[in-house]
Amino acid sequence: MKRIAILTAGGDTPALNATIFGAVQKANELGIEVYGLIKGFGGMISPQLPHVRLNPLFSTIPELDPCQGGTLIGASRTYIDSNDKKQLQSVAARMERLKIDGLICIGGDGTINGMQPLSEHFPCVLAPKTIDNDLGLNYIDEPNEWVKDENDAIHDGYRHSSTRDAVSLGEIVNYVTPGYATAVFVVAQSIERIRTTAESHRRIAIVEVMGRDSGYIALGAAYGQPDMILIPEVELDYPKVIRRVRELYDMQKHVVIVVGEGVQDAEGQLGAKSKSVDPAGNILFSGAAERLAEILIKELGDDYFRKNQRHDEAKSAVFTRKVGHTQRGGRPILFDRFYGAQLGGEAVEILNRKQNNHLATLNWTEEFGFTTGQLSANKLRDQWGTIHAREVHPSLYSEQRFQPSELGRQYFAPIFKNAIGYEDMEAIKSHLFSQDNLLTRYQSFNVEMQKRIQYLD
Ligand code: F6P
Repeated sequence: MKRIAILTAGGDTPALNATIFGAVQKANELGIEVYGLIKGFGGMISPQLPHVRLNPLFSTIPELDPCQGGTLIGASRTYIDSNDKKQLQSVAARMERLKIDGLICIGGDGTINGMQPLSEHFPCVLAPKTIDNDLGLNYIDEPNEWVKDENDAIHDGYRHSSTRDAVSLGEIVNYVTPGYATAVFVVAQSIERIRTTAESHRRIAIVEVMGRDSGYIALGAAYGQPDMILIPEVELDYPKVIRRVRELYDMQKHVVIVVGEGVQDAEGQLGAKSKSVDPAGNILFSGAAERLAEILIKELGDDYFRKNQRHDEAKSAVFTRKVGHTQRGGRPILFDRFYGAQLGGEAVEILNRKQNNHLATLNWTEEFGFTTGQLSANKLRDQWGTIHAREVHPSLYSEQRFQPSELGRQYFAPIFKNAIGYEDMEAIKSHLFSQDNLLTRYQSFNVEMQKRIQYLD
């Protein structure tokens, strides 16, 4: 391979620049040129194919900083229509004109789907990223457990029930995805901070976190010590939830609850699902915390709060907060930087071996710790060709305690033990209250990158 292209697709994560950095460093070693394609697949559709050289003379451009969140080549949720053969052919022709021998896509499941039709024209490899930690398998044969069920609206007409009582941690395919650790870092801190208000003002705080149908972020929030965690994989049992809220409130005069945004009850998703404005028409989740608040307000009732003069009405006792996009933003913590870069490098090696439609994976075993590997993208697909978001396996969650199970705690240990680097703390110390911040405006890498963008025509 002489020249490859790289793009970032889907929602941003803090580890994207680190992953690009790892890929470019590996390409420098191997003497491969790397072109960054602007704004994901959207850039490929453009007849001008906007691009930047990320390693002129095999040295990484200075704007590419692995410690900076976001992506310096831009991202979008635009995907190429696999049925539009004409579009595919013109994309392939443009890539040929640019003399691109292969493509690395940094993304999640949507990106693999976007990459698949392109892999029929040139070799493509995925470097994984998603804060949701839902790209992977609890065990290799998990896709075979999905069945079609027209009545299951939550999983778009599919149903899954695990055939295993527990997972063996060493078997997990793609143990963790870059971006997840930083999201948990932000969420856990938010929980700690919200606790103070709930505790002082005798309130029930409901904190909604991202993750779509997957409860990994919510479960990881356990590091912030919330009293209860509700994940989308486990249908809400209201009497049980309310009983636990009462027990906790009676004892400690406040409760902190974390809800994954895709949490559901017997009727379906609690929050509204809406289509985003991006071209992929991606589903956005919103309002699970508000809905749960309404239910708690109604079920607990005003008298419950009045009896001990804690609040005049239930409405003033229950409040909701969304951690929102801050959980995907900012500087990646050490774990994400390091393994994002490793996966970027691995993706280049896979491509250089001319393996097509594969993804780089990050696996963990007791014996070797974290190691990178590779997997054919088709191994993630069920018999109908669909890739399902990885769910939190039931054995990682304790439904009784609304907390991670013993196995869940074991799952987290290797990720978070050394996830924060000394330099992460130093960066906060030296940067946040620097007097320079008061004098200088934020310097966006978009401004510098704009000067580097080249076009086909
Ligand atoms: O998939 C990543 C994610 O952050 C989800 O957790 C969340 O539901 C969604 O993206 C939000 O999307 P958007 O960036 O379009 O608001």
